[in-house]
Amino acid sequence: MSPPKGHSNPPPIAWFGPHLTGREIERLRDVLDRQYINDGPLAREFERRVATVAGTRHAVAVTSGTAAISLALMAAGVGPGDEVLVPDLTFAATANAVRMAGAEVKLVDVEPVRFGVDPDGVKAAIGPRTRALVTVDVNGRGADYRRLEKICRDTGLVLICDAAEGLGSRYAGRPLGSFGLAGCFSFSANKTITAGQGGIVTTNDDALHDRLRELKDQGRRHGGTGGDDLHPVIGFNFKFTDLQAAVALSQLDELEKRLAAAQRRDSLYAERLANQPGLTLPPFSEVGEVRQWTDVLLENRAAVCAALDDAKIGQRAFWLPLHRQAPYAADAKKFSNSTDISRRGLWLASRFDLADADFDRIGSVIVAALRR
Ligand SMILES: Cc1ncc(COP(=O)(O)O)c(C=O)c1O
Repeated sequence: MSPPKGHSNPPPIAWFGPHLTGREIERLRDVLDRQYINDGPLAREFERRVATVAGTRHAVAVTSGTAAISLALMAAGVGPGDEVLVPDLTFAATANAVRMAGAEVKLVDVEPVRFGVDPDGVKAAIGPRTRALVTVDVNGRGADYRRLEKICRDTGLVLICDAAEGLGSRYAGRPLGSFGLAGCFSFSANKTITAGQGGIVTTNDDALHDRLRELKDQGRRHGGTGGDDLHPVIGFNFKFTDLQAAVALSQLDELEKRLAAAQRRDSLYAERLANQPGLTLPPFSEVGEVRQWTDVLLENRAAVCAALDDAKIGQRAFWLPLHRQAPYAADAKKFSNSTDISRRGLWLASRFDLADADFDRIGSVIVAALRR
């Protein structure tokens, strides 16, 4: 049915999207003018600036967040024959990165409030072949590093942190990416800062840094002519180009503004969704914590999604737990928290170009659906 005369349907609202400012073009033009489009000076500048954000000595830019996790594990000597603990509630990339490094995945349930891997579950899961833990900072919420760093130190586990969704967010007064042996970020199109694709490993460990440089560039720590270079060890090609760095650096100029906008977005949603039956706003419990997208837990998620779909408002359900994905199938009884959170979790529209009126509209659609 067409709308009554004089009224038009409000425009659709997409869930998220890259927010390009137009300034990317200036740096891109410089790169093109310079005629050097490989992994070069802009990639190095991007690494220095991300290391500053993460508070680490080093950052090594690579092709994706998945590659970042995988190379961090390889650089730490984790591989075939080893078992790596991975939280059950995460994007498939976390576990796939472990498999790409040649190690086996052992899933651990998460804790119910902040969705990070359960430290008691980690302790209980450690077996004779367990070499590493990959934590996930779900949606910018740091995992429980107060306990997990100690557990890993005491048991000798390598701690690699999947902070793909957490650039600029903090936990216990420290930036994400600065915990454990290494932090891994993603710059794919649904992240706060994007280069289309891309990733980075942050670390304070000099030896790990050197090894990462070799792994991303065919075993060379420093590129030479490309002809008679020495390749003393085996490496691959996971280089990040200056074309990507041009976009990423311009995006990074916006980081502080975007972190503030994300916090404001959460409060605008919170004002509109407070005290609604069947809806829980997961708490902010750390100073400086920034969520990449606003998340809510819903008793009847299907009804809210249907109402949002009808109103052409984008949203995204939380991931299925990994134990329900064919390559990682495991007994559901061990994963009651991830099962429950996955069933109820929804990421609301979180684009950076939402107007205050959009929050009113989205809020009223959700409230009406909850009261139905
Ligand atoms: C939690 C998490 N881990 C890993 C990744 C993988 O990053 P990428 O897509 O850059 O490989 C992503 C994002 O895509 C993610 O959200």
